[in-house]
Amino acid sequence: MSVADAFGRAAHYDAHAAVQRIVAEKLAERILALPPPPAPRVLEIGCGTGFLSIELVDRLPDARWLVTDIAPAMVDRARQRLGDRPNLSFAAMDGEHPDVAGRFDLICSSLSFQWFGDLAGAVARLRRRLSPEGRLVFTTLAEGSFFEWRRAHGDLAAGTRDYPSAAQLAAIGLEVEIETIPMAHKSAREFLRSVKGIGAGTPRNGHRPLTPAELRAVMGRFEAKGCVASYMVATCIAGPL
Ligand SMILES: C[S@@+](CC[C@H](N)C(=O)[O-])C[C@H]1O[C@@H](n2cnc3c(N)ncnc32)[C@H](O)[C@@H]1O
Repeated sequence: MSVADAFGRAAHYDAHAAVQRIVAEKLAERILALPPPPAPRVLEIGCGTGFLSIELVDRLPDARWLVTDIAPAMVDRARQRLGDRPNLSFAAMDGEHPDVAGRFDLICSSLSFQWFGDLAGAVARLRRRLSPEGRLVFTTLAEGSFFEWRRAHGDLAAGTRDYPSAAQLAAIGLEVEIETIPMAHKSAREFLRSVKGIGAGTPRNGHRPLTPAELRAVMGRFEAKGCVASYMVATCIAGPL
């Protein structure tokens, strides 16, 4: 299943998206502190159901927005949350290969860049779409995310993706801050449901699914350690290229 299909089917996204909500709220504060110039032209990538833009639209009242996501169903959900406003436009778009005209004063995204196949290439393309004073500001998952779940695999390979380290993010020209957000779950099953519910259950390419017995053993070890899964969240900022 493609990433767009996985997210398009995540009908219960909001119910399983506690971390996404927290991360989007913090990112909104970071963006407001930049601060963006007056009447900024804003491009949002991977809007999901609109957690980030809902925090910003009323606080940047003169902004003109293009709100996008690769999954058309998510664009519709964001449109419902934000409502029809004259300064908002919506589009289904692959943010890794942005098909947009002109320059933006702010390109922002919360927890979607971890899905890009070539993060460095995407960051360079997006930075070329910034105005001279513009900023690319996004959060993404960093190395060590879900380490408790991986640790519970012992010698087995976990399907969770590899995320970049702070040094790797800095090496592609980003200013980076990393925050650890530990989330406690009621059970391993609930953790897996929440990962699926936010559409992030797509395993890394070539991953061999565990047998039922292997999965049971992993879930048992995860629960024995308290069912905590940490999100390592990188907040990344860059100027124009
Ligand atoms: C974990 S959700 C985050 C959504 C929202 N920003 C939030 O904070 O709740 C990731 C989003 O990124 C979108 N996405 C994944 N790959 C993308 C791509 N290449 N271009 C644009 N959006 C993408 C998914 O469809 C999904 O809506």
